[in-house]
Amino acid sequence: MGGTVIGSFGMPAFLMIAFAAAVSILTSPAVGSPIGLPNLRQCELATDNSVVGPPTTIHVNCCLPIPSGDVIDFSFKKYKAPKRVRQAAHKVSADYIAKYTRAYDLMRSLPEDDPRSLSVQSKLHCAFCNGAYKQAGNDSVILQVHFSWLFLPWHRWYLYFHERILGSLIGDPTFSLVFWNWDDQRDGGNVMPAMFLQNGSSLYDEKRNQNNLPPTLVKLVPGITGNNTEIINQNLNAVYQDLVTASNAELFMGGAYRTGVDIANSTVLDAPLGGSIENGIHNAMHFWTGDPTLPLFQDMGTFTTASRDPIFYAHHSNVDRLWDKWLYDLPGRRRRNHKDPDFLDAEFYFYDETGSLVRVNVRDALKSEKLGYSYPEVAADDLWVNYSPPPITSGSAVAAARASGVPDIGPSPQNGTISLGTVLTAIVKTPDANKKHKEEEVLVVQGLQVTRDTFVAVIVFVNLPSANSTTSTASAEYVGTFNIIADPGKTLMSNVKFEIGDNLRRIGIQNEPEVVISLAVKGTQPITIQGLTIRYS
Ligand code: C2O
Repeated sequence: MGGTVIGSFGMPAFLMIAFAAAVSILTSPAVGSPIGLPNLRQCELATDNSVVGPPTTIHVNCCLPIPSGDVIDFSFKKYKAPKRVRQAAHKVSADYIAKYTRAYDLMRSLPEDDPRSLSVQSKLHCAFCNGAYKQAGNDSVILQVHFSWLFLPWHRWYLYFHERILGSLIGDPTFSLVFWNWDDQRDGGNVMPAMFLQNGSSLYDEKRNQNNLPPTLVKLVPGITGNNTEIINQNLNAVYQDLVTASNAELFMGGAYRTGVDIANSTVLDAPLGGSIENGIHNAMHFWTGDPTLPLFQDMGTFTTASRDPIFYAHHSNVDRLWDKWLYDLPGRRRRNHKDPDFLDAEFYFYDETGSLVRVNVRDALKSEKLGYSYPEVAADDLWVNYSPPPITSGSAVAAARASGVPDIGPSPQNGTISLGTVLTAIVKTPDANKKHKEEEVLVVQGLQVTRDTFVAVIVFVNLPSANSTTSTASAEYVGTFNIIADPGKTLMSNVKFEIGDNLRRIGIQNEPEVVISLAVKGTQPITIQGLTIRYS
């Protein structure tokens, strides 16, 4: 890649960046190559206008400052630091909170164009989530770090440098971020952590859902109802389905995203595919935390503003912890990250604690330990690891569903475009169950398309023809949720996959030739799909 010449010609950095981008246009094929470094000189103002309620334009210039110095190639040696252990936000001491508060105080008081300021730190997120930059090697396609295999490694790097900047501002290289332990349904992690709730503190953000202050429990599926025990069981099942049953890299981390893949204009064949951790519990927490009285659920409820809230970094620290948990510490077969070179060689820019641009790749992000930090064991993880969702149906629902007019839906393209309405129930063929497969049965929702004007979620059930968006998600019939964060005017075209083998076995319908699938829509945004198919994966 042309990028290796950066820093070697004594040119001003901005020229070198432009030069590197030009070289990659000449040398990279349009499709089938890793995501490369964007040309930071080519920034578009993101337009994020509310489409409901009073017209509002939120601050949308996400263009990043270009430092005058050379771009640094990341190496573990250059960025050596003492080992850090990230602690749970609800367990840290008053002294720790004071230190954390001081660090964000300093970060907030830096000039707005300082790469280390909270303002620029939050623009980093907006820039690569809201379409400010184009992909290197394909000038007509935006660069997007969500909805694919880039999600986990990009956010790991983001936290890594954010943490180093905070540490350097207070002169403490052992400083570590906290994690918001929202998956903990027993020991106090599943509420907004108190350290972020002091009005006037640098950790506070007033743009949060005021109905969700403690003791309100988090909802890991949007809109779930019931008493605390019912909420807790639905939360446990959400984590169980998103982590334990999503046993391969594609299901958990997301699918391939290479140069040329267009999040807005894809086909079923090349539509990006987000992983269960991202689409499910991660997005649900963004939605739960943001302020529903603001048009886009700012700050946490939309990617443009999410990382203006210091709680964002604690939220993502837990997502990052759950990645390690998934990889190293779940029962059953060994989980592995993607190995595709287009994954490993994808590159990003971040700013380090000196404000310099650093060039990093996905390969170097795969071991948190090598990056110098770790997470403690969390005893309450056992609750969701061992959650055993009880079936509430027995026997196949197919015959009754067919008798009452539920349609058969097959793989794309035979269906054309199907509107989900408020709930779509369909009979879907299963693959040949007589063959012994090592792989898991996976439901593929093909070519899901939505204009992201407001938040919307698709909640998926199996064998429950009566399911709708208010059905409890605590049972074995609940498969998972695709939560779609608002980004007005932007279209998303995605494939969505859910592991359903575990669900079928628990219900006792694993040998049936067909099953009933329900896609219940929470929200009012129209959604279409192009097909439903069940495969081994
Ligand atoms: Cu970049 Cu939690 O989103």
